[in-house]
Amino acid sequence: MEARPNALLVLHRIGYEYLIRPLLFRGNPQRAHDVALRWLAFFDRWTIPPIANWTLPNTPVAVGGVQLQQRLILAAGFVKGHGFADEQAALAAVAAGKNIVPGWRSMSQMVGLVEYGSFTRWPRVGNSGTVIWRDVPTRSTQNRIGLKNPGVVAAAEFLSRKPLPFQFGINIAVSPGVEDPSIERQEVLASMAAFLDKGVRPTWFTLNLSCPNTEDDPKGNQTEDKARDLCAAVVAAIDAIPLWVKVGPNLSPAQYQSLMRAFAEVDVKAVIATNTQGAPTPDSQGLTAGIGGGRLHAAALTAVHHLMEAKVSHGYLVDVIGCGGVLDGTSYDAYRKLGVDAMQYWSALIYRGPLAAAQIMREGERRS
Ligand SMILES: Cc1cc2nc3c(=O)[nH]c(=O)nc-3n(C[C@H](O)[C@H](O)[C@H](O)COP(=O)(O)O)c2cc1C
Repeated sequence: MEARPNALLVLHRIGYEYLIRPLLFRGNPQRAHDVALRWLAFFDRWTIPPIANWTLPNTPVAVGGVQLQQRLILAAGFVKGHGFADEQAALAAVAAGKNIVPGWRSMSQMVGLVEYGSFTRWPRVGNSGTVIWRDVPTRSTQNRIGLKNPGVVAAAEFLSRKPLPFQFGINIAVSPGVEDPSIERQEVLASMAAFLDKGVRPTWFTLNLSCPNTEDDPKGNQTEDKARDLCAAVVAAIDAIPLWVKVGPNLSPAQYQSLMRAFAEVDVKAVIATNTQGAPTPDSQGLTAGIGGGRLHAAALTAVHHLMEAKVSHGYLVDVIGCGGVLDGTSYDAYRKLGVDAMQYWSALIYRGPLAAAQIMREGERRS
């Protein structure tokens, strides 16, 4: 498809590269993130012009059991809400009319498809201290936010009161520290039910398996069984809404193969590859935080390669959604060349600005 130049995108690129990004990058990444969320909460108050419609190329695509309105989706972790110490406090904030999920409206109006979350069964305040870093030369991010979120009950209550976008996803993560598979399953099912009971029906649910349970299981047997059991229970409970699963990078080829087999067996519609890659933080060798962006790209592509190989050789009806270092037309194209039809991004927002998705898609479509 020949993509037309778009005046708004040209203005956005110049404004972001030469004015906003230099200003934002003068401060630390955490402060920039907080400032951005405050702006989003401000814009959430109104219906802003549908910038996404004006800038995104028209490339609907059938992926993950749905007809998506575009190929690029804002990944989980940006529109996920404030952290709270407990459910009561989170619900009290909703009752008081506070915006506990900044960006719930403004992000989708700007970028189109958004995956909200990750949300966990219970609210979490997240980690303290420095939790976000950037590595500018490689256009990477690193974070140890620690699944900060308001919990599913308050998030569902909040979102049920809002006019939600035409299409959106909700990402549910298993609570860190929950080891007992039956409690894990109970929590995940209760999480999905919290939204459905409130009439919040996402276009897809994503189950975040990559954080923290599946990353260190080189043989993959236990993970395969666990993934199969958990996903089968979820698919049976979510009333025909497609289930997607998010996995981590750097698993063995055999583990990606076996996970794919499990997903196909229980009718998971798509796998998102990948979540961030754990590495020591720039401040402390003893602390681990997840790398996204340029430094994740090669590992995510490798994961996608193994998953696609399994899909094609066995004819599995599970789509693969690329995620990791989608930053420009070249990285977008790298996933397209592996047969991937849709992708998610996060770090591109930081390095390319709020209209990153439209820019990347147009660069990518120009190359094809
Ligand atoms: C600050 C931050 C918070 C994130 N939080 C979540 C999360 O809550 N759930 C999740 O599934 N992924 C989360 N992610 C991972 C992203 O969704 C994405 O998988 C990862 O950043 C790779 O994409 P990228 O290379 O485009 O950044 C987070 C990423 C960042 C940078």
